[in-house]
Amino acid sequence: MEQRKLGWFASLGAIPYNVGVPQIRWGISSSLWRSGRPIIETPLKPDWRIPKGRRLTPKTTLPPQAGFGPDGRIIEYELDVPMKSILIPADALNKRVHELGEEITEEYRGTVPLLVSILKGGVVFLTDLMRAVRIPHHIDFLQLSSYAGGKKTTGTVRLLSDLGTNIAGRDVIIVEDIVDTGLTLTYLLKQLEIRQPKSLRVCALLNKVEAREVDVHIDYVGFEIPNEFVVGYGLDYDEKYRNLPYIGVLDAE
Ligand code: PRP
Repeated sequence: MEQRKLGWFASLGAIPYNVGVPQIRWGISSSLWRSGRPIIETPLKPDWRIPKGRRLTPKTTLPPQAGFGPDGRIIEYELDVPMKSILIPADALNKRVHELGEEITEEYRGTVPLLVSILKGGVVFLTDLMRAVRIPHHIDFLQLSSYAGGKKTTGTVRLLSDLGTNIAGRDVIIVEDIVDTGLTLTYLLKQLEIRQPKSLRVCALLNKVEAREVDVHIDYVGFEIPNEFVVGYGLDYDEKYRNLPYIGVLDAE
């Protein structure tokens, strides 16, 4: 079901678009960014190679390291490793997270589901998703780790800290940033099923099917992504880059 909805996104695996946020409407002094954030008077940096005095078109893109600050102004993220490409820009993430929130809202209306975020990677996704879920719900966190900061799983999933909530009889939704080999999720599902929740489903922002080592079912998928090591929007490399507002591929060995 999710894959059908995301058919258009399949092409991203072949052609990652090396752009930032594409829909900027420069040159119209009163124009607003789609979400209503003003973009006028936004300072441009000379190294963004936008010729002086040139009227910018809707196709104008931001550099990969840029995003929007809380006041709507463009801010530049400082990276110590170059970004090879941006796989999912911030506005596409925002749109998809709201679609997922709407699906959860419709399917869980009349219940008070418990959204369980897996620290640390899942925390950014959870904080956006919970604001897109329009029905009352609870949240809780647990921390698992299998990558120890690196690019490859150690193969051993460790429970670093447990839930504070008793999930027996509850409708539980696991909120994951990414399902890669599937080892983390398989481990977690086993651990939580023993506690006899009323229902147990999984919402994963990213699904890296090509990397799968164990078969695991995901109920809500944000995006299918190619087998690249991705960072941003909660995902790290060596604990860094979780702060980026988009999903990108680092130019690192
Ligand atoms: C990442 C991610 C998932 C897991 C998925 O966590 O947040 O929980 O890996 O990988 P898998 O499907 O191969 O098991 P990580 O262990 O890196 O910890 P973190 O969330 O603190 O970054």
